[in-house]
Amino acid sequence: MNKPVDLPARDFNDEDSNTSSNPSFDSVLAARLSRRSLLRGSVGTAATVLLGGLSLAACGGDDDDPAPVAATETLLGFSAVAKSLDDKLTVPTGYTASVLLAVGDPLAAGVTAYKNDGTDTGFHQRSGDNHDGMEYFGLSATGTPDPNGNDRALLGINHEYVNLPFLHANGTTPNPRPAGQVDIEVDCHGVAIVEIAKSAGKFAVVQASGFNRRITAATEIELSGPVRGHALAVTRFSTTGTRTRGTVNNCGTGKTPWGTLLTGEENWVGYYFRAAGDPALRGAKGNTALVRYGSNATATTASASRYGWETAGVADLYARWNTSVTGTSTDGSDDYRHEVNLQGYMTEIDPYLATSVVKKRTALGRMAHESAAFSKAVVGKPLAVYMGDDARNEYIYKFVSAQNWVAADANPADRVATGDKYLDAGTLYVAKFNADGSGEWIALNMANTTVAGYANYAFADAGDVAMHSRIAGDAVGATKMDRPEWCGVHPTTGEIYFTLTNNSNRRLGAVTGAQLNPDPANPRVYTDTRGAATAQNGNPNGHIIRIKEAAGEPAATAFTWDIYLFGAETGAPGNIINLSSLSADQDFSSPDGLVFSPSTGLCWVQTDDGAYTDITNCMMLAAVPGTVGDGGPLTLNYGAGGTVTTRMGKKPTATTLKRFLVGPARQEITGLCETPDGKVLFLNVQHPGEEDSDFASVADPSAFRSHWPANAGYGAGGALARPRSATVMVVKDNGGRVGS
Ligand code: FEO
Ligand code: CA
Ligand code: CA
Ligand code: CA
Repeated sequence: MNKPVDLPARDFNDEDSNTSSNPSFDSVLAARLSRRSLLRGSVGTAATVLLGGLSLAACGGDDDDPAPVAATETLLGFSAVAKSLDDKLTVPTGYTASVLLAVGDPLAAGVTAYKNDGTDTGFHQRSGDNHDGMEYFGLSATGTPDPNGNDRALLGINHEYVNLPFLHANGTTPNPRPAGQVDIEVDCHGVAIVEIAKSAGKFAVVQASGFNRRITAATEIELSGPVRGHALAVTRFSTTGTRTRGTVNNCGTGKTPWGTLLTGEENWVGYYFRAAGDPALRGAKGNTALVRYGSNATATTASASRYGWETAGVADLYARWNTSVTGTSTDGSDDYRHEVNLQGYMTEIDPYLATSVVKKRTALGRMAHESAAFSKAVVGKPLAVYMGDDARNEYIYKFVSAQNWVAADANPADRVATGDKYLDAGTLYVAKFNADGSGEWIALNMANTTVAGYANYAFADAGDVAMHSRIAGDAVGATKMDRPEWCGVHPTTGEIYFTLTNNSNRRLGAVTGAQLNPDPANPRVYTDTRGAATAQNGNPNGHIIRIKEAAGEPAATAFTWDIYLFGAETGAPGNIINLSSLSADQDFSSPDGLVFSPSTGLCWVQTDDGAYTDITNCMMLAAVPGTVGDGGPLTLNYGAGGTVTTRMGKKPTATTLKRFLVGPARQEITGLCETPDGKVLFLNVQHPGEEDSDFASVADPSAFRSHWPANAGYGAGGALARPRSATVMVVKDNGGRVGS
């Protein structure tokens, strides 16, 4: 969710905990400003954008590379979809979109169809709510793992949060929450593994499949990697600090080269209540850590939980959401003071085995995780996993495995053990973007004396660093970014693209608190209006930054970077805002999901916006990007506010960026995967009809801001139905690849 940035709404996707004093580029800039001449207009050099065929010469016969474009196929050959506020999902002429799975749909034999009136129960056997990141795992006709399976597959779907009050018959009951409502909400979180199979040429959910599985906010999960067994992981549930329950606020995803799902735990801190007075029961170090992750209880004010799950009763399942010191032990073995330390990880699930153990891969750090994008797996080289931390002013990370890739691991007998091999040992790095277009990956471990000797937080060991990777990033002066969301690895160039969705903290001139001046990697500051009145300051429309590893090596500690695209309204001034010269067929705001198609190589960009939503619902665009360095330096002149020189890629053209889809009212488009042949694309429509702030009443259905997908003929409820998050599949009517 992405509320308009200046509204005081319950915007748990816009956390703001990085008030660390590590410098942005202010001081660097100050030194440069006086001698830097304007270089505007120097973008758009002679570098050639890779059109259509996506660098066929570079394909080199690698099985993982996109298939060459057929002679009759033109990528981005469709007509752009117009911006729209209609409560419907629109795809280009010649394409068909249909709903595959909506919240509440049954995922086990005998479970009744979803009534969508707030009386449904048993969500541990139904689709969860707020479909988000999603990955495709092919199956053969006989049900064995098959990366090339186009007709039968498993979808791994994140269910990020719950869209209150539509889950309950009469809306949401305030604290103390009824256990029955809390149980539903807990079960609507987590992940769904869902078998789909083609019937009469079209995919449908296999309701009674033995592969189907729900992992919820209550499912038992193992801790793996450096946090396993740590003193700060001890709870009443696991006095050895080796296990926990649940994965929450699952946002972006990743697909490992060995065929498992990674699910990112994003805005988890808000699920935990922390009592007023709790800081006095902990040491200074413990409080520093909690505050840095957004748990801000004081002597007199509690840190309230989002859903009040801890108020539903004294039973352990509810009490665990109170992460205050309530016991008398010195190690936390009699309460849940450490429970909040057990969310915020990349969690791995083997989708092919419904009984497989689920593991939190703690070596990949603890943050507001979004997606996880793997470098191309090359035999004999380590794997890099790229990740963003989505909160204002947070960082970009990569994990590099200690083990080198072995070809046989692409189809291993034991996928969980393969995860142990590649994801439990390695090095976590954080990114620092330099003004000259270079960058550094800085190791976050005890061998780095800047981390081990950090004055503001005395790291004890590797587990402490992994659990508090944000603080380690502070220690080394990582670059504060404009809310890193998803990342994707270009299938031919190997370059890594990160969406930076927006940042209301950017300001010119004197700054206070968490505000930051613009810097080369986050160069824009302006005011955008949403509708007639709402002014949004900072970088309201976001941008997409990309990096190229030195020598293309996954373990490189140096990189170069530029900015691929700036979100903007097409009519906005071109000197600060619409720097990418976006046309009416291309303009967008707040990029969030970003996925490269393994088939076509297209870059799909999805929006989760609160700045352009007076003009259009959130959308998805298809792009054929170029390469890092295909543009050049660009100086933004802020007048009395000085200048900022960034590095900007070649601007898009009408044939390299085009809007493909616009969703129904008040939703975001997220999650994307495809069949291996590129002919069926799956995406998620999340939270249609969501309000700027929660409303408790469902008494007047005509007041709902969306009735999708029932208004498109899917499911119960008719024209005034409650809106539902859903997975949608898109096909080209002539049987071609999606995006052509
Ligand atoms: Fe769940 Fe950062 O979006
Ligand atoms: Ca606007
Ligand atoms: Ca997101
Ligand atoms: Ca978002």
